[in-house]
Amino acid sequence: MTSVLFVCLGNICRSPMAEGILRHLAEEKGLAIRVDSAGTGHWHVGEPPDRRAIQCLKGHGIDISGLKARQVSAEDFYRFDLILAMDTSNLESLKRLYRGGSIPQLFTHFCGLSEPEVPDPYYGNERDFEWVYQLLHRGVSKILPRLAVHA
Ligand code: 4NP
Repeated sequence: MTSVLFVCLGNICRSPMAEGILRHLAEEKGLAIRVDSAGTGHWHVGEPPDRRAIQCLKGHGIDISGLKARQVSAEDFYRFDLILAMDTSNLESLKRLYRGGSIPQLFTHFCGLSEPEVPDPYYGNERDFEWVYQLLHRGVSKILPRLAVHA
């Protein structure tokens, strides 16, 4: 089974959204994929996703209200096949933490999207969250066939 870890800064906006979208699409298609998310920062550890992220995904039929933020650790590189960072700043943080295992990659690049990164919506509004959703959904849909193992 392929395992995927999405990583952003706080683990309350982008990466839990990506986690929810991939889990949802995999379940819909009957694919066995292990998915998780984490933050490079520690500030929101133990918290649920940002209410705007929860609301945005709820509007698309996906419930991420039960997720809890955690910080990424060096062991995660051994626990997941794919480590996908939401932006270059988080990719750099992951590279500093890296002690071996799966090499961290940029989400947009890995998915073949032309956007350079997934922008941080934390200081934005609902429209920014919706844009992040659209970008994540497009990227995840593109890589799904590559991750696919039928359950
Ligand atoms: P995320 O968004 O990295 O997509 O979860 C952020 C969440 C919190 C903060 C920054 C970005 N913060 O500065 O607390």
